[in-house]
Amino acid sequence: MALVPSYIKQLQSYKSGKSIEQARRELGISTFVKLASNENPLGPSPKALAGIKTVMENMHYYPEASGFHLRDALAKRYNVKIENVILGAGSEGVMSTIMRTFLLTDDELISAENSFIGFRVLANASGRKVHWLPMKDHRYDLNALVEKITDYTKIIYIANPDNPMGTYITRKEFDDFYKHVPERCLIILDEAYYEFAKDKSDYPDSMSYRYDNVITLRTFSKAFGLAGARIGYGLAHENLIGNLMKVKVPFEPSLPAQAAGLGALMDDEHLNKTLAITKEGLYFFETELKSLKIQTVPSAANFITTFWDTDEKAKQITEALFQKGFIVRQLNAFGWPDAIRISIGTMDQNQNFINTLKTIIK
Ligand SMILES: Cc1ncc(COP(=O)(O)O)c(C=O)c1O
Repeated sequence: MALVPSYIKQLQSYKSGKSIEQARRELGISTFVKLASNENPLGPSPKALAGIKTVMENMHYYPEASGFHLRDALAKRYNVKIENVILGAGSEGVMSTIMRTFLLTDDELISAENSFIGFRVLANASGRKVHWLPMKDHRYDLNALVEKITDYTKIIYIANPDNPMGTYITRKEFDDFYKHVPERCLIILDEAYYEFAKDKSDYPDSMSYRYDNVITLRTFSKAFGLAGARIGYGLAHENLIGNLMKVKVPFEPSLPAQAAGLGALMDDEHLNKTLAITKEGLYFFETELKSLKIQTVPSAANFITTFWDTDEKAKQITEALFQKGFIVRQLNAFGWPDAIRISIGTMDQNQNFINTLKTIIK
């Protein structure tokens, strides 16, 4: 169709992991455990739900376009000005605004191949040249990224920690990398899993890098349990944010999403509980998988990625787990077809999962 640009025609639509509803339809089992999309197994924070209730009766009104209350709360939490904060329908919403704001016709982008699909979709849909560089030892290879920088480079995207590997770049690595990036290049630091990684002593919390060309993306989808609400945010220099605000879809995120975010932000108890069960679950998985001689990558996020002998083996294991009521994610869409990513669940779910896996691989 002549209407559609060739770079759009070449794209494939995003295929997410199976939802529980889809799984139920396919198999007729009512109790599925979804450990496939790095969601929060504790559910949303009760304070987020209470927040949504307070706005339900006002749903016939548009939300305030500036997103004042949540931006203000985030600014206070991170000790920045409200002008340094932008909201989006998920952090991917902010990413989409970034793509529409900064790219000129000849601009190029750089990132790692086989990292987060959300960025890949937006970058390919931009029609710009993107340099996709291989990872090294399942990690972003920042030296390789630097070598690709040219006069045309506009955006460099780094997921830290990465999804789907769970690995992270260290403060020293980021410092060395940053020295080689010209000021006219925007670095997107996607910290969707920040809360899980922040206590690692060498994790580079990007809030301590308030450089003018760094934008931090964070989300309520993971540690705050609000993936379905679609609420995320970006933190950056007010000049960057000011320009993003001109391009952003005016009334996103929705009124209930903003209210949920505000509630969740006040709920330290839920957040701390989430972080504690994730830590315990991650340790459990590491230990159990090791004793089963299944190869994994050390993760700083709320999931663990496992490697299997062949792509076919990974497919069989994923399917066998599905038949037993567990949804996990074989990583073929990410470019790692011999890998399966498992999100950390509650300890009961984790234990049942490992018991089931043992019976499958026996
Ligand atoms: C690295 C990374 N960034 C962003 C997201 C999406 O976040 P949001 O739900 O806020 O759009 C994910 C979700 O899987 C992710 O893994």
